[in-house]
Amino acid sequence: MEKFLKLKKREVIVSAPATVANVVCGFDVLGFALNEPSDLVKISLSDRSYIKIIDIKGADLSYKLEENVVGVVLQAFFEVSGISPIGLDVSIFKGIPPGSGIGSSAASAASAAFAINSLFGNILSNEQLISIAMVGERLASGTAHADNVAPSILGGFTLVRTHSPLDIIRIPFPDELFVSVIHPQIELKTSDSRALLKAKVSLKSATQQWANVGALVAGLFSSDYELIGRSLHDEIIEPERSFLIAGFQEAKKVAMEAGALGGGISGSGPSIFMLSKGLDIAKKVAKEMSLQYEQLAIEHTSYVNMISPYGAKLISSIDI
Ligand code: HSE
Repeated sequence: MEKFLKLKKREVIVSAPATVANVVCGFDVLGFALNEPSDLVKISLSDRSYIKIIDIKGADLSYKLEENVVGVVLQAFFEVSGISPIGLDVSIFKGIPPGSGIGSSAASAASAAFAINSLFGNILSNEQLISIAMVGERLASGTAHADNVAPSILGGFTLVRTHSPLDIIRIPFPDELFVSVIHPQIELKTSDSRALLKAKVSLKSATQQWANVGALVAGLFSSDYELIGRSLHDEIIEPERSFLIAGFQEAKKVAMEAGALGGGISGSGPSIFMLSKGLDIAKKVAKEMSLQYEQLAIEHTSYVNMISPYGAKLISSIDI
């Protein structure tokens, strides 16, 4: 009976936003939420005795639970909470293209974790939700990293200090910081762009990298836009990955000429993000990067975003 006593709703629809992970110098530790696009997950009680993915819109993904990010996150919820699994119908609406580098799998994992927790009256903490969402990231990329799922669940700008135990630090950010994102239609799998990274880095590169991470966080705390810009340099990852993204150097160059503070690869790519002070500059930056990709005849989508303070949220629900 315990599983039914804890049930608070019979249907929930939850959304979770796209995210930019790494933020140039903070590989696997920094990330922030975007205000668009987002994924939606709908979960309803069913007469079946098991969980079934009944609909997937917006992407060609597996309906098998063990092969789907949402499926493994739902299974992880029942393991962590100790509640016995029940019959559920699950629908997934992908607003974020898989393989885009703006946290597509993370948004599905975050939506699933938040949705199943809402169904059961929010019995798990935010940290526990991030942990179970990381199970989805492990399926998608081979590594259970939290730099996308943390901001997708919590919103805002986050730093993952440690994974075990999970220690997530929320970082304030200035009001006029806007984000331009360009998504060239080149599909890159996170697992592939992680596989090419070197296991060892030089002490010189590491020293410069942690100096930049510290300075970026200081710039965010103190709304020092120039310091934010100066800190957006990646000594370690960008040199290894940028050749995978046609037009990367050119897009970055035109963005800087248009007044961006700095930027680089979003997550594992191929999306590129740039930070700017003010909406007008951010729009100009997005337009210039877009023109650059038009010249290269590469299909692309661009977004101009704020860093969203909002993470996963309940869109609608039906009580028991
Ligand atoms: N930190 C991860 C990576 C993010 O760069 O591989 C993947 O979206």
